[in-house]
Amino acid sequence: MLFDSHAHLNNDMPQEDRAAMIKKVEEAIEAGLLDYVMDVGFDLESSKLAADHAAAFSWCYAAAGCHPHDTKDMDDMQLALIKGLARKDKVMAIGEIGLDFHYDHSPRDVQREWFRKQIRLANELKMPIVIHSREADQEVMDILKEEGAFSEERKSWFAKRPDTAGYVSADGECPDARVLLHCFSGSAELGRQYVKLGATLSIAGPVTYKNNRKTVAVVSEIPLDFLLVETDSPYLTPEPFRGKKNAPPLVEYTAAKVAEIKGLSLEEVAAATKANAMRFYGIRG
Ligand code: NI
Repeated sequence: MLFDSHAHLNNDMPQEDRAAMIKKVEEAIEAGLLDYVMDVGFDLESSKLAADHAAAFSWCYAAAGCHPHDTKDMDDMQLALIKGLARKDKVMAIGEIGLDFHYDHSPRDVQREWFRKQIRLANELKMPIVIHSREADQEVMDILKEEGAFSEERKSWFAKRPDTAGYVSADGECPDARVLLHCFSGSAELGRQYVKLGATLSIAGPVTYKNNRKTVAVVSEIPLDFLLVETDSPYLTPEPFRGKKNAPPLVEYTAAKVAEIKGLSLEEVAAATKANAMRFYGIRG
């Protein structure tokens, strides 16, 4: 029923914790709650592990890339190895890549350099891009534009997407640049700008947090055609489990909040966001 469009089964954690998380996913699939999980890389090792998970589990797909936090350890050899992983079966996107000026775990110039190089890689391979952006909104958008992530050429590689509300274009469908703003935390205005450029927004657990009016406004304003749901497990646990470890089945609580905001049923939001995620990542059902 649900597609968790962004999780980290590949995180650095004890083997028994990983096994427990995978077991929770399999139980939720058995129960008909969850269908797919996208395991997203953040450095070379985690990208390898995500690709291994995708090869091992029918419900798992992978993204390969280096997170801004980890760019301080990047080099051209690792980029070549990430490129090799990206070509594997069931590795569907380059990500997560971007800028994080909140933690500054890597120098900003280094973050910028590898963000650009990995957008170029995604363009070379004609693959979707998964973006991490924190306290760097303007620069992330500028770099995406400068590197051609929203170019007409890039949009021509991908099928158009539904636009049932005529939000971008009056004819019922609009261009898709296959650029995903993961755990979107910007304003409704920024969300609108991104969607019009051809991007997709992914909503995570923080939408369930008390007083998060900003993300509630995003969900209320942006049509469901342009939204995905995710957990970012093991981080960002939704209410009412905030403070505990997150796992992909809890994507239900984020989807339920989206449904409440939009006045739809959980089933409707699950079906639409799953279809959106499959189209975004290029997965055939
Ligand atoms: Ni993540």
